[in-house]
Amino acid sequence: MNIEKFIKPAVLDLKGYHLDKREHSIKLDQNENPFGFPETLKEKFWQRLRHLDWGRYPDFQMESLVAKIAAYVQLPEENIIVGNGSNSLIQALLLVVLSPQDRLIIPEPTFTLYGLTGKMLGAEVVTCQLQPDDFSLPLDQILQASRAPNAKLLALCTPNNPTGNSFPLAQIKILLKAFPGLVIIDEAYHEFSSQDALPLLHEHENLVILRTFSKAMSLAGMRVGYLMAAPALCAEVQKARLPYSVNLFSEIAATLALEDNSLLQKAVAEILAERERLGPALREFSFLQVYPSDANFFLVRAADGAALFQHLLNDGLLVRDVSGYPGLENCLRLSIGKPEENQKLLTSLKKWRN
Ligand SMILES: Cc1ncc(COP(=O)(O)O)c(C=O)c1O
Repeated sequence: MNIEKFIKPAVLDLKGYHLDKREHSIKLDQNENPFGFPETLKEKFWQRLRHLDWGRYPDFQMESLVAKIAAYVQLPEENIIVGNGSNSLIQALLLVVLSPQDRLIIPEPTFTLYGLTGKMLGAEVVTCQLQPDDFSLPLDQILQASRAPNAKLLALCTPNNPTGNSFPLAQIKILLKAFPGLVIIDEAYHEFSSQDALPLLHEHENLVILRTFSKAMSLAGMRVGYLMAAPALCAEVQKARLPYSVNLFSEIAATLALEDNSLLQKAVAEILAERERLGPALREFSFLQVYPSDANFFLVRAADGAALFQHLLNDGLLVRDVSGYPGLENCLRLSIGKPEENQKLLTSLKKWRN
C-alpha cells in the first residue's frame, strides 16, 4: 500500500529530527551537564518515590512544581506552565499560534525543532541567515520579514544552539517592540549565559520565554521544561498541552533540583570555569576556528569537519557534527565535559594532523 498518500505533503517533505547512535566512551554531543544529577538528591528522590501512589495520575496542573519554579524565577504562578521537556512546550505553543500560511520567522542556523514543527503545521517558515562572521542577528532582515500581515511568531534561541552566542538584549527589545506577533526567547542555556530576558516579561506581553531542566539542572532524562508568559497566553497554551504529560517521577526530580540547588549551581560554576580554560586551549590549535561561547558548548570549524569528527570518535569522543546546518560547513559542536573529559578532547586534538 502506498502509505504516503495518507500523509500531509508538508510532512512528506520533511526530514525528521534524527540522531545517529555511535559507540563512544565520552559523550560531548548533547550539551548535557556532565556531572550528572547529584547523588544526595537521587537518594531523596528514591525516598519520596516510595511513599507515592504510582497508580494515580499526577497532579493535573503540577501545582507544587509550578510553585517551586515561581519562587525560583520570582514570578507569579499564573505566568508559568511546565511541560514534558521544553520541546513539548515549543510544540504546544506553535500549535495554538500558527494556522496554515502564518509566518514563523527563525534565524538560521538554530535549533531545528522550530522550523520542523512550523512546517508540519503548514506555516510559512521564513529563515534569516545569521551574519556569517559572528552569527549575530540580521536585524534589518528580520524587521523586514516582520512587516508581512501574516507574521505571527519569531523564535530566537539565546544563547543560540548550535552557534553558542547570545543575542544582545538591546536587539531583543527592538524586536519585541517592532514585531506584530509573539516573540519566543528560548533560554535553554540561560544558566551558562551572561544575560537574562526574564525582566523583559514585565514590559512585553508578546514575549514567551522557554527554559529547561535538561541542561544546567542535569535532568535531560526526566524531560521537564517550563514556559513563562502573560497569564492569558499561558491559559491558551495549556489547551494544547497533553494532560498529565509530566509524569510523577519527573515532577519529583525537578522539585528536588529547585529545593536543593546548591550542588547544581556548583556544577554550573565548574562548567563555566572549564569554558574559560577550554576556549583558549582550543584556540591554540591553528587548524580550528573557535567561536565565542555564552553556553556550555563550543562551535568550531575545521578544514575537514567530517574527518575530524571521525578522528575524535576513534578516540572514543562523541561530539556533534553540525556541518549540515546552513552556513556551518565543516563545523562541529563540542559540549563542555568534566575536566578529565575535556583533557582527553585536547589530547585527541593534539594528535590530529590536518
Ligand atoms: C535551544 C534549545 N531549546 C530547546 C531544547 C530542548 O530541550 P528539552 O530537553 O527541554 O526538550 C534544546 C535541546 O537541545 C535546545 O538546544
